[in-house]
Amino acid sequence: MLIVTERDLTPTARRPRPRTYLMCAPEHFVVEYAINPWMDTTAPVDTALAVKQWDVLRQTMVDLGHTVHVLTPQAGLPDMVFAANGGFVVDGVAYGAKFRYPQRADEAAAHRAFYESRDEYSFVAPTQINEGEGDFAYLPDAHGGIALAGYGFRTEPAAHAEAAEALGRPVISLKLVDPRFYHLDVALTVLDDENIAYYPGAFSEASQKVIAQLFPNAVIADEADALAFALNLVSDGRNVVINTESTAFADKLTAAGYHPVLVDLAELKKGGGSVKCCIAELRD
Ligand code: ARG
Repeated sequence: MLIVTERDLTPTARRPRPRTYLMCAPEHFVVEYAINPWMDTTAPVDTALAVKQWDVLRQTMVDLGHTVHVLTPQAGLPDMVFAANGGFVVDGVAYGAKFRYPQRADEAAAHRAFYESRDEYSFVAPTQINEGEGDFAYLPDAHGGIALAGYGFRTEPAAHAEAAEALGRPVISLKLVDPRFYHLDVALTVLDDENIAYYPGAFSEASQKVIAQLFPNAVIADEADALAFALNLVSDGRNVVINTESTAFADKLTAAGYHPVLVDLAELKKGGGSVKCCIAELRD
């Protein structure tokens, strides 16, 4: 006989874990070149509004109990606000970024200087093109601790092997096939230490099979969710910071036992990014 207790029916209590993040204010944010389909150099950008929205995001992370470090924004590097692209940190090892496009190349040095100035991180310089947490994600409790890595538009598959060697963790390569979802972090997100959410259509059929095998309990996003940049979220295991356009997906997260926290980042969407793009997680 199957006995179902009340406990089985309650959604798992989601527990937050305090995090350390790195962000960079969009003081110099403009769209003056287009390196992804979201960027339109003819659409006006309100930099002051972008800074205001970003600051609400920063304060939200602080209010949730997290530590936020900031980089000094540099004139001439308008995409520096997308701090997630500057490296990938696991167990205190910071695998540096090497940007695909020359317009962003100089951002890597600012991130490197940050890691090298702090004792808690050891920096590994990359030889292969990779855009940090734009294309890398880490799950400490899935399969003993694995990284997921995207390729197809920005990061080179050879960087996945380089990251595995730098970090001593398995790195699962996933092929992105839709140019609107040019980074892993607009197609897939880590919700807690062991589970993810993703939009299957952003991946090759083979990669969809890989993800389904590894994460049978993943939360599935649809195309509308992905286009709202719902997957470009930051979760502490319970509180899920997500943009205000993504209310439909926020409802799915609530149903899965998470607690969505909505922030408006509409101005930064003009650069092709949202919450996660603005926030690198520093895992000591
Ligand atoms: N304009 C930037 C680029 O195309 C946006 C980066 C978004 N960042 C991210 N982590 N997806 O490189």
